Amino acid sequence: ADGPTHAERLLAWYDRHHRELPWRISPTAAKAGIRPDPYRIWLSEVMLQQTTVQAVKPYFAKFLERWPKVTDLAAAPSDDVMAAWAGLGYYARARNLKKCAEAVAADHGGVFPDTEKGLRALPGIGDYTSAAVAAIAFNRQSAVMDGNVERVISRLYAIDAPLPGSKPVMKAKVVELTPSDRPGDFAQAMMDLGATICTPKRPACALCPFRDDCLALAGDDPERFPVKAAK
Ligand code: ADE
Repeated sequence: ADGPTHAERLLAWYDRHHRELPWRISPTAAKAGIRPDPYRIWLSEVMLQQTTVQAVKPYFAKFLERWPKVTDLAAAPSDDVMAAWAGLGYYARARNLKKCAEAVAADHGGVFPDTEKGLRALPGIGDYTSAAVAAIAFNRQSAVMDGNVERVISRLYAIDAPLPGSKPVMKAKVVELTPSDRPGDFAQAMMDLGATICTPKRPACALCPFRDDCLALAGDDPERFPVKAAK
């Protein structure tokens, strides 16, 4: 459609409806050129990988209080870090967290690399985390994909091909949509849209900034997407 681009529509929605999260800075601050602490973004994104926002909040607060900087986490005894992680699950994440903190401390002077490629070279940092930290902490034009983003994209374009095979097609769409202006807010906005509006069941399409462009909504059955391969 004419008028604002998808990214412009989404960012206008995010300015009004973003979630306030303990690790997040406001879009007003981001627009003024302020960036969040990469350590906080990295820690929150690792914790959020298989865990809900509500469950992560107390753990995030506890870790930051105990280990305020990445060099503090690097110097902590492994047993203390594992014990503090208890309850979050997926303990390989905690072991990788510690390894990554040690590498940032020992090889990078305690400063996180500021590119997706530099972050991806750290131990325990995969495609998701490197893209998320590059975008959110450093405002890099990285395409960030998680389950929320896959749902939004599969609906917007009514992608009939099943997951996981459709991931490269979806990634190409995110690359195409990600703006050079405010890419960090764009990434967070896609995730917030998936978490709060474009939900798995009963999405709130009337409130969606993409309602006039969404092919799944035009086809009357957004819940059909994302299509998943038969088990
Ligand atoms: N889920 C995981 N990371 C997120 C983020 N940065 N914003 C919103 N939801 C998320």
